[in-house]
Amino acid sequence: MKNINPTTTSAWKALQEHFQDIKAVSIKDHFKNDVNRFDQFSLSVNDIFIDYSKNKITNETVGLLVGLAEEFKLSEQIESMFKGDKINKTEGRAVLHTALRNFSGEAVLESDKDVMPEIQKVLKQMKTFCDKVHSGEWKGYSGKKIKDVVNIGIGGSDLGPVMVTEALKPYQKEGIKTHFVSNVDASHIAEVLKKIDPETSLILIASKTFTTQETMTNAHTARKWFLDNGGSEKDIAKHFVALSTNKEAVVSFGIDPDNMFVFWDWVGGRYSLWSAIGLSIALTIGYENFEELLRGAHEMDLHFRKQPLKKNAPVILALIGIWYNNFFEAETEAILPYDQYMHRFAAYFQQGNMESNGKSVDRNGNEVNYQTGPIVWGEPGTNGQHAFYQLIHQGTKMIPCDFIAPANSHNPVGDHHEKLLANFFAQTQALMNGKSEAEARKELEEKNIPEEEISKILPFKIFQGDKPTNSILLHKVTPGSLGNLIAMYEHKIFVQGIIWNIFSFDQWGVELGKQLAGNILPELRHNNPVIGHDGSTNGLINEYKKMRKK
Ligand code: F6P
Repeated sequence: MKNINPTTTSAWKALQEHFQDIKAVSIKDHFKNDVNRFDQFSLSVNDIFIDYSKNKITNETVGLLVGLAEEFKLSEQIESMFKGDKINKTEGRAVLHTALRNFSGEAVLESDKDVMPEIQKVLKQMKTFCDKVHSGEWKGYSGKKIKDVVNIGIGGSDLGPVMVTEALKPYQKEGIKTHFVSNVDASHIAEVLKKIDPETSLILIASKTFTTQETMTNAHTARKWFLDNGGSEKDIAKHFVALSTNKEAVVSFGIDPDNMFVFWDWVGGRYSLWSAIGLSIALTIGYENFEELLRGAHEMDLHFRKQPLKKNAPVILALIGIWYNNFFEAETEAILPYDQYMHRFAAYFQQGNMESNGKSVDRNGNEVNYQTGPIVWGEPGTNGQHAFYQLIHQGTKMIPCDFIAPANSHNPVGDHHEKLLANFFAQTQALMNGKSEAEARKELEEKNIPEEEISKILPFKIFQGDKPTNSILLHKVTPGSLGNLIAMYEHKIFVQGIIWNIFSFDQWGVELGKQLAGNILPELRHNNPVIGHDGSTNGLINEYKKMRKK
């Protein structure tokens, strides 16, 4: 790995100079200067079309950014990940979620062992299990067919399955309802348990470590509910399944090892939907569709591995992100899917991105002196338009946005989809072009508004424009195209991590809070005042003790 501070590379210095030259040139002017801009700055990859022409970039910018990636020997780094090198150095692990969707027929070595036979074995186990549940061969303790699946997990053991099952709702198997419980707040599990019957429910306990407090608490609550509502210890095997890397903990929880779907420590939690963690997806949309999802991701993996950096979708998106993050000092990025089914897509990549690249220590163990991962957020359009787009259009911050839309809807009702897409196209146009003072004035004059009124209202009607966007079109949201899209965003995160010289596949930053909660929990179990913390924490805990009902 090239563990260098990106700001010391010659490409970075050249980019800084180039930035001074072009920062004031508007995107609109870039279009005036180059009639072929759309063709030059767009890419077609498998099921996806990406237009990145509405950015503050020129050919020179792209050339310099690609030069930056080359200084980091990006192509070698990509190979290194795919080949199973232990690139997650702080945990001493390989990063091989790509092997989970490897349909090339080639071996993937991890510590000199081919991981493919094990992966295929678990996929087969998942298929057999799904077939049994769907056909009714798998029965609950009273002989009834499974109707409800509950996935208990959090973070990567929840967000991926939630996002995918929502995005692929049109593929949902008849007769199966899927529920997700993640929060340790009892309200989450209580609301789900109200809706289901122990005789016809299957509980999946999804946890890589099988030690996560939230998941284990919810798992124990679910087991108690099962036993209190007609199920017996011997029936647990028919209703509880574990998705984990930790066999010992699964067995000590009381789950039959035959009901365990394994994965491995080289699968990062936030990259695990492709593994056994995807069982809730396969149960919801059918194993064949789950496999299509994996195949879609594999296609993107092939593109990422083989295409030259300049024509490589994840690389281009990553470099554009770096351009805004490190040169324009943009703090955040929005992901805006114009597809209601994809309403959890931004939340999914919020974890993907922020847990991966939210780091301030570089690969040499030194504090960085440049910006790393952006704040990632978003909501589906058009809802977002009526909520936060105001700030994107007229606020003081630059927020680069990815607009994502399917060309074809699963629900072609009336002209809904044309209206949705008209908004999709109009927003990126408005963000780029804005509305000048002259244009705003003309509009007001055409409405015969008196001059006195015009001069008062005019400043508020101006849109600066020049706000950068990428537009991503899919033919339709299918398992394959969704797989394509997820893998593209995953690889974008990888590329950025390489260039920011950080380790993208650990998450030590989530530990401290867990540790302190572990210290505080026993203190909440008695009524004595606490004195061992800082003034605010002591005060809050003691106030809570007074407020809580005995
Ligand atoms: O929040 C930290 C984290 O480790 C995530 O990375 C992970 O996705 C989540 O917790 C859940 O972990 P597990 O699958 O081990 O329960």
